[in-house]
Amino acid sequence: MPFDHNDHYHRLLLRHVPSGASTALEVGCGTGKFARSLAGAGLDVDAVDPAADVLTVAKALGSPGPGRISYRQADIRSVALEPGHYDVISCLASLHHVPFDTVAALRDALAPNGVLLVLGLAKPGSVADRARWAAAVPGNVVARALVRVAEELGGGVDALPSPPVRAATMSLAQIRREAVRLLPGSRVRVLAFGATCSRIAQPERP
Ligand SMILES: C[S@@+](CC[C@H](N)C(=O)[O-])C[C@H]1O[C@@H](n2cnc3c(N)ncnc32)[C@H](O)[C@@H]1O
Repeated sequence: MPFDHNDHYHRLLLRHVPSGASTALEVGCGTGKFARSLAGAGLDVDAVDPAADVLTVAKALGSPGPGRISYRQADIRSVALEPGHYDVISCLASLHHVPFDTVAALRDALAPNGVLLVLGLAKPGSVADRARWAAAVPGNVVARALVRVAEELGGGVDALPSPPVRAATMSLAQIRREAVRLLPGSRVRVLAFGATCSRIAQPERP
């Protein structure tokens, strides 16, 4: 696979999984790469995506265990989410496919101490944003080239189908504003390679 900055951040995201977590919801799972990472970390994962072709691949690849993965072909907005259920909810490059306020339903589906992890995309909205995004380009190009060379040396790999993509619709400033409104206590970080990472931890309930 060519270098993919979403995959690059799996380890960072996994570091935010609370200890003792056992249930996860992966929103817009694509070919299931992060669902398999969560299952590998021991979580049982409900993985949702409306795209049939990528789900076929995800199902064929199964789970590495010890956690199990249950795939469902659906639009996340039509899934009835049980309040207070999931220890981890993740959206990797998928939240911008739906209106941002979809996060309210995801927030409410978090168990006490649960975390919502969003690896997001933002469109440049200011000169500073443009400078940051431009600075990320050489890193992406170099990382892609290095991964390609490593794969060629290793005999190549089979490419998986690419999940549907969509351009970012909100600027970083808009995301920060909406996160304050809908996800109080959340943190938004800008990462290298041009992605953003948001994390909200649900307070422990008495
Ligand atoms: C850019 S891909 C990212 C896939 C995967 N998370 C990854 O990191 O490789 C965005 C994914 O969101 C999915 N998606 C689009 N609309 C969705 C919706 N309404 N509900 C859930 N997933 C959706 C797409 O089908 C696609 O697989």
